[in-house]
Amino acid sequence: MTRPLRIGVVGVGALSIRAVIPHLACDDIADHVVLAALCDPVVDRANDVARRFGVEHAYASLSDMLEADVIDAVTVVSPIGLHYEHVRDSLLAGKHVHVNKTMTTTVAEADEVIDLARSRGLALIASPGEVLRPQVTAIRELIRSGAIGQPAWGICGCSFDAYHEAEPERDGGPGGGIDPRWYFRSPGGGPMWDMTAYALHQLTAILGPAQRVSAMSGQVVAQRSYRGEAFTPEVDDNTVALLEFQGGVFIVAHGTAAGWTTDQFGATTFYGTAGTLEGVLLNGEPIDFPGRELTTHAPVTDWEAQMCVLPHVTGPHRDIPESHVFEDVMQMVDEARSGVRSAASAEHARHVIEIIECAYRSARTGATGELTTTFEWPAV
Ligand SMILES: NC(=O)c1ccc[n+]([C@@H]2O[C@H](COP(=O)([O-])OP(=O)(O)OC[C@H]3O[C@@H](n4cnc5c(N)ncnc54)[C@H](O)[C@@H]3O)[C@@H](O)[C@H]2O)c1
Repeated sequence: MTRPLRIGVVGVGALSIRAVIPHLACDDIADHVVLAALCDPVVDRANDVARRFGVEHAYASLSDMLEADVIDAVTVVSPIGLHYEHVRDSLLAGKHVHVNKTMTTTVAEADEVIDLARSRGLALIASPGEVLRPQVTAIRELIRSGAIGQPAWGICGCSFDAYHEAEPERDGGPGGGIDPRWYFRSPGGGPMWDMTAYALHQLTAILGPAQRVSAMSGQVVAQRSYRGEAFTPEVDDNTVALLEFQGGVFIVAHGTAAGWTTDQFGATTFYGTAGTLEGVLLNGEPIDFPGRELTTHAPVTDWEAQMCVLPHVTGPHRDIPESHVFEDVMQMVDEARSGVRSAASAEHARHVIEIIECAYRSARTGATGELTTTFEWPAV
């Protein structure tokens, strides 16, 4: 393909307004991709954002956007529980797809969309592309080279406070507030899908596929509020899983209503017989990785600064939030245009989905689950 890929955004909510649309509206990528359309059932918001960012088309639904035939690809930025349907329908309409985490909420759905993409020769890229980060490759190399001796166990995960309810984009504007309550409903609600997915992508990019999972899960915060109105969450907000990897390495992975195990978002702390790796710190000292000099203006805990090393995060993209999501969209653009597979694969996302699905099943049944999915794991 020589002309720019025409992309449509599915869902004009907090992440789209803060990051996806500002990134895709930048001129520096115009040779590769053009932001052609938006869709959202809150059509006043879609129209307003389209006007502000100079996007030609805005629609009230994905089906309208697909029928209009003004796009070659989509980026799915809708609530997680709708991702399966939006990815499937876009692939069926012959569009390349990037989807935010998590791609689906069951392995069966993931299998279906992967088969669809592969059989139709369409790109399907799933966030978060943690595997793309040179930091993650460096951590994998250090562990393999014995920098911490024999790895024994580790801990990762993310905590889920009230940040979605308080995001500034949610307050108002045309169409009213952007309702975050889906983050607390099934399917797709709860910190494992929304937050721990980052840690699990990074962890499995380092150690490879997990083998077994057991978990406990429950709810801590029984009432939450959005714009002063109380609501009752319907999903667990306190899940702790235990994962087994090859070589008998055990990792605790949490998605909880309180507490962080490391200051580095999504990172694992690995304990070995001869040392500790906590994110990009080896025994407390920063590790080296290609492009590290681009990150040293900020503490290692600065998630955005750590993303400056990603291949498409250059120029204006370093100053726009959530540049890792932009990187993942550009992986889809490159794969669609060149046919060369990205490492940010849907198969990797399916494995993380299986871990979370299995963790919830284990919490319900008390049984440890054996994992069956795998993905191409980059050789160092
Ligand atoms: N908010 C964040 O900080 C953040 C960061 C990284 C990734 N993400 C991911 O981005 C995605 C969206 O999250 P968000 O926080 O922006 O959600 P949001 O609730 O702010 O926005 C979702 C948007 O989707 C729209 N929508 C609902 N049904 C739709 C449909 N049938 N078709 C099209 N649009 C529909 C809603 O009207 C809303 O505008 C999720 O996958 C989330 O995990 C969010």
